[in-house]
Amino acid sequence: MQSVVLIGFMGAGKTSVGKALAARLGIPFVDTDALIERAAGRTIADIFAHDGEAAFRALETQTLAALDAASPAVYATGGGIVTRDENWPLLKRLGRVVHLHAAAEVLFERVRGESHRPLLKTAAPRETFNELFALREALYGQADLTVDTDGKAPAAIVDEIVRAVA
Ligand code: S3P
Repeated sequence: MQSVVLIGFMGAGKTSVGKALAARLGIPFVDTDALIERAAGRTIADIFAHDGEAAFRALETQTLAALDAASPAVYATGGGIVTRDENWPLLKRLGRVVHLHAAAEVLFERVRGESHRPLLKTAAPRETFNELFALREALYGQADLTVDTDGKAPAAIVDEIVRAVA
């Protein structure tokens, strides 16, 4: 069985859909952010705050490169993993790359109040969000499949992915 690699913006549901999809397919769920935190022994917010985004991105690429493409799994990735060109072949070598798409309004409402989002800790979070969203939408388009999640229950999203990757 091929692995499924979920990409998409913060708040798109990669973790919740990923866990449900892994349970349905009977394969492990792996969260790359959790792997980074475990390996570093620190939270992502702490890595961003003390070492900066570039240091986090280097750890992210290192973590991605170390994943075993031979073991099927459902991977949930950090929203910014798509921003480094060198990550794309690493993502694609793992399996089918699936973009969970949601409208900007829906995503912003989900993430605006969350204190653990280091990238949105700016003087103007909405503007920051808009800039990131615009930049990243084009990058997410390189996925093998895009699933529109707006108005859909996690189970329906899982069904759609299972049908597409079967
Ligand atoms: C990030 C998203 C986060 C995490 C880090 C950076 C981003 O993951 O990797 O805070 O650049 O969008 P989620 O998308 O799981 O929130």
